[in-house]
Amino acid sequence: MTPTENIPVIIILFGGSGDLAHRKLYPALFNLYQQNVIHDRFAVIGTARRPWSHDYLREQIKESIEETHDQVNEDDLKHFLSHFYYQSHDVTHVSHYMALKKMAAHLDETYHADGNRIFYMAMAPRFFGTIATHINDQHLIGSGFNRLVVEKPFGRSLASAQKLNDEIRRSFSEDQVYRIDHYLGKEMVQNILPLRLTNPLIKNVWNHDFVKNIQITLGEQLGVEARGGYYETSGALRDMVQNHVFQIATLLMMPEPEALSATAIHAAKQMLLDHIVLPDPDQMRKHFVRGQYLGNDDTFAYRKEKNVAPDSTTETFAAGEIKFNAGPLAGVPVYFRTGKRMKEKCSRVDIVLKHMTNLYGRAHSNNISIIIDPVSEFYLTINGKKIQESGIRREDLKYRFTTAEMAQVPDGYERLLHDVFVADTTNFTHWSELKRSWQFIDAAEAFWQSDEKTVPMPQYAPFKMGPKEADHIFENPHDHWIYR
Ligand SMILES: NC(=O)c1ccc[n+]([C@@H]2O[C@H](COP(=O)([O-])OP(=O)(O)OC[C@H]3O[C@@H](n4cnc5c(N)ncnc54)[C@H](OP(=O)(O)O)[C@@H]3O)[C@@H](O)[C@H]2O)c1
Repeated sequence: MTPTENIPVIIILFGGSGDLAHRKLYPALFNLYQQNVIHDRFAVIGTARRPWSHDYLREQIKESIEETHDQVNEDDLKHFLSHFYYQSHDVTHVSHYMALKKMAAHLDETYHADGNRIFYMAMAPRFFGTIATHINDQHLIGSGFNRLVVEKPFGRSLASAQKLNDEIRRSFSEDQVYRIDHYLGKEMVQNILPLRLTNPLIKNVWNHDFVKNIQITLGEQLGVEARGGYYETSGALRDMVQNHVFQIATLLMMPEPEALSATAIHAAKQMLLDHIVLPDPDQMRKHFVRGQYLGNDDTFAYRKEKNVAPDSTTETFAAGEIKFNAGPLAGVPVYFRTGKRMKEKCSRVDIVLKHMTNLYGRAHSNNISIIIDPVSEFYLTINGKKIQESGIRREDLKYRFTTAEMAQVPDGYERLLHDVFVADTTNFTHWSELKRSWQFIDAAEAFWQSDEKTVPMPQYAPFKMGPKEADHIFENPHDHWIYR
């Protein structure tokens, strides 16, 4: 079993000068260092092409820690930084892996790291396969534990994901691969199972007799910013639905696991995903909508963004329906929508319950709402009588995390890195789960591509809720989005 304190390890961070490393990984490593998860027996080799020195990397990390922490103990920081090293390295050049291997071996000896290695691919996905192949061919694998952390996106179709997985599996077994979905590190996403399973009030209605539909909204206010080039190869369906929407939907729809172990949770997820309904053309026409954002006086339309084709058919918004034939909510539709340039940044789930009586006319539905971002909040929408007139009014029973509680919530990356250190794979995506979500995405993409010539891409006004067509994707025409 991996120790949980002062873990001996050499971390090789591909993309050590990148945005993710600077904003998320270095601060997370510092927090884990302060908690003693790593302390004396670790070293990090940051690699990228630019010709930095060890000292320059350390300066960059110091900046990133100071940007993200109100107070820092200078001695702690100094000791932490002394464990960082830089290797200028082009991941496509074989010779650099030899240098990397030598440096890792040397640091292993210096820090008594027991031959343990964590390889973190914090780079553009087109390099993942190349790095995995070189790790194998140049024998970078250590003599202790070896773990590979892979960022999203893992492929852009089932075929490309399969190819990447094959390349990775030449050096790493499935239980050594940690596919990151940072939504799985978020507080309220981790709260889904406890909320579902420990509250009789919720658990007893969590079935198809009571739940009418589930709605997942992952909205961003930003446009593609500087990432137009990447986004053109992706789109909302691949960028958000294949991973984050699917992981959230799985936690909501899976059967109760037999235990809280990684094995039991993955088995329950897999059982559900093996019963996914792939969308056919009829379902696509009725229940799926895509769109591209327009501009206004201050912001560009998607087709005018840098590195975006003026006739691009990449969707910046996607809405649709996911269904499973198994689990407690078998047959209950999960509606999702996700997009850029929406009204506000908001990630949330609304579970809509069925009406139980006609006695009081049109009462509101009872809803269970879980707000993931930008606040952590949970609320029940219930009905009660109006005070002075007849009829029904709605009330929200709300619990929002206080500022003090929010301050205690670790960043998703800190949680997930911790889990990599202690070899807990619960909150990472298994290959067999990924395969199912790609099958679904491939089916939707194939339909949209065949449709492209005849159906123009809906364009939507910025800072609203996406194309109006997305308000009519429900199976029951009386249904609507709870969050509007
Ligand atoms: N940024 C985020 O908040 C975020 C969030 C979720 C997921 N991700 C994922 O994390 C990954 C990294 O994203 P990022 O935003 O950090 O990207 P980024 O800022 O563009 O960083 C890319 C890194 O790769 C290095 N690099 C590029 N080409 C290289 C080559 N041929 N050889 C060696 N190094 C090379 C770059 O440094 P040089 O130019 O010096 O070589 C840089 O360090 C992506 O998969 C992304 O999808 C990022």
